[in-house]
Amino acid sequence: MLNNYDKIANIYDKLSRLIYGKAQVNAQINQLKFIPKGGSVLIVGGGTGWILEEISKIHPSGIKITYVEISAKMIALSKVRAISGNSVKFVNFAIEQFDSEELFDVISTPFLFDNFNASRSEEVFYLLHNRLKPNGLWLLVDFTLKEKGGKWWKWMLLKSMYLFFRLLKIVEAKRLIDMEPYFLTEKYTMLEQRLYYSRFIKSTVFKKHDECKKA
Ligand SMILES: C[S@@+](CC[C@H](N)C(=O)[O-])C[C@H]1O[C@@H](n2cnc3c(N)ncnc32)[C@H](O)[C@@H]1O
Repeated sequence: MLNNYDKIANIYDKLSRLIYGKAQVNAQINQLKFIPKGGSVLIVGGGTGWILEEISKIHPSGIKITYVEISAKMIALSKVRAISGNSVKFVNFAIEQFDSEELFDVISTPFLFDNFNASRSEEVFYLLHNRLKPNGLWLLVDFTLKEKGGKWWKWMLLKSMYLFFRLLKIVEAKRLIDMEPYFLTEKYTMLEQRLYYSRFIKSTVFKKHDECKKA
């Protein structure tokens, strides 16, 4: 299935650390302080589940996590993570097939949208937008080519990654979709933005407007 990381699940974290050191990890860990005590969190594309252990270091109990991941192998790796007193519901589906009426306090999409083509990005944005409570938080982390400096090497690295993933027939995207305009159109407020890896990785905490209407 498209964008499914089964083929490289066992080596994904090693590969990520090899290229990006701790940048991809830190970009996500630094957002976790925004999760409210006792909150509900929808994580989409969480990979091997290391994020579950990081959440439990900050909130040892009371967090209700729904973990939607298209890769069965990633789900299997995630299921053996130490989650302390938090609860995790594992959902082995593509997010596009996630059929739920539940609204969440927080939605996390770490390095998810950079897998998608433009139409899937829009579809998934609105699907998730409609699952986030008014005033809820969206933790977005992705690569960016918009920031100043090193444009050529960032472009080359991104191209190489897309080529690698396309050769393995994993990822559908051929270029990076800028998701910020969607958040601005839906009147989200930016609470925090941080840059990592010479401004190639951007983490943003968006807050949904109180009066956000369903799309
Ligand atoms: C680039 S990896 C990022 C993994 C993790 N967030 C991290 O930073 O270590 C993207 C993950 O999203 C998952 N994924 C891709 N498309 C998905 C979809 N439509 N629904 C749910 N998960 C998806 C992949 O299987 C993969 O595990």
